[in-house]
Amino acid sequence: MKKKIAVLPGDGIGPEVIKQAKKVLDGVALKFDHEFEYEYALVGADAINKTGSPLPENTIEICRQADAVLFGAIGDPSYDNDPKAKVRPEQGLLQLRKSLGLYANIRPVKLFDSLADRSPLKEERITGTDLIVYRELTGGIYFGEKGRSKEGTSAYDVCEYSVNEIVRVAVMAFDAAMRRRKKLTLVDKANVLETSRLWRETVQDLSKNYPEVEVEYLYVDNAAMQIIQRPNQFDVILTENMFGDIISDEASVITGSIGLLSSASVGDQTSLFEPIHGSYPEAAGKDIANPIATILSVALMLESFELYREANAIRNAVNRSISQGLVTPDLDPISHVTCSKAGDVISLLIEADEPREVNFENMFEGSLPVI
Ligand code: IPM
Ligand code: MG
Repeated sequence: MKKKIAVLPGDGIGPEVIKQAKKVLDGVALKFDHEFEYEYALVGADAINKTGSPLPENTIEICRQADAVLFGAIGDPSYDNDPKAKVRPEQGLLQLRKSLGLYANIRPVKLFDSLADRSPLKEERITGTDLIVYRELTGGIYFGEKGRSKEGTSAYDVCEYSVNEIVRVAVMAFDAAMRRRKKLTLVDKANVLETSRLWRETVQDLSKNYPEVEVEYLYVDNAAMQIIQRPNQFDVILTENMFGDIISDEASVITGSIGLLSSASVGDQTSLFEPIHGSYPEAAGKDIANPIATILSVALMLESFELYREANAIRNAVNRSISQGLVTPDLDPISHVTCSKAGDVISLLIEADEPREVNFENMFEGSLPVI
């Protein structure tokens, strides 16, 4: 198979983890006889420094023409501490989501058995955790009207949702629930927010089309508690943009490191694959970042191309290297390997391994729309 991939390394540890993910993709191409063509493009603080814009027009064009986008990370401390900055790196990612119509952000949270003792939570509470967050990504308070009063002493961010915006992501989440354990939890704040009441109403209507799916409704404050107390009760979590941002970071803690979690953003056009972690500027250039989240994002990308055997080969290699203790410092501050070594090992394991039968049982097969 021949595929064109837009590669946007971005800021901080972005370029380092992307380098490892590309190594793994090259390993897959060699082993399974595919051809991946890469086109690099600028985004974030890196793009601001070089062009003045966090998302140059040319980057959007490259993404539109690609079969998928592989994204590193975005953000730079020099902007974080300057609330008056006119351009911000994050605008690059937000505009890209909007330009590509990426309305659903899919974040799987699954415990690696061999890392259960690295979780800050008690092992008996988290065994069997295997949930997937469907976060709405192009609406809500992130994209509503924003502004300041004339005097500048008050500010507003409007949160708005239409039925159509809710339905398109909710349908994806229901479909995923049907392929998984048939449970869907809508996380909202319907006791306070009108937008949440519209979410609840819409999901209630939609649930009539999915009689086999058990639907549960949780207020976000309660959900935040439940995710820590009993994460293994969840299957598919559906929620709006801001709540999804917060609870998916919270859920990532369960697995022991945010550096393990992958994501796919899908919608109208090209899909985008990225680790859920940020740019981790303190670690940039030190070869200590965890590349697994980006490598697993590549597995999601391959699934979206319907390359299930290849995605499975990546997951097997990741599992094997982790269970042999070949982990980065975030998972073991004493005995660890570098970011590039972790990438080397996974890529070599893929090349050395005999292609196996695909075990669909625990895969996200079908969780993603096929490109
Ligand atoms: C994420 C990030 C982004 C978001 C930032 C970088 C704008 O936190 O992808 O979760 O808030 O969506
Ligand atoms: Mg976030």
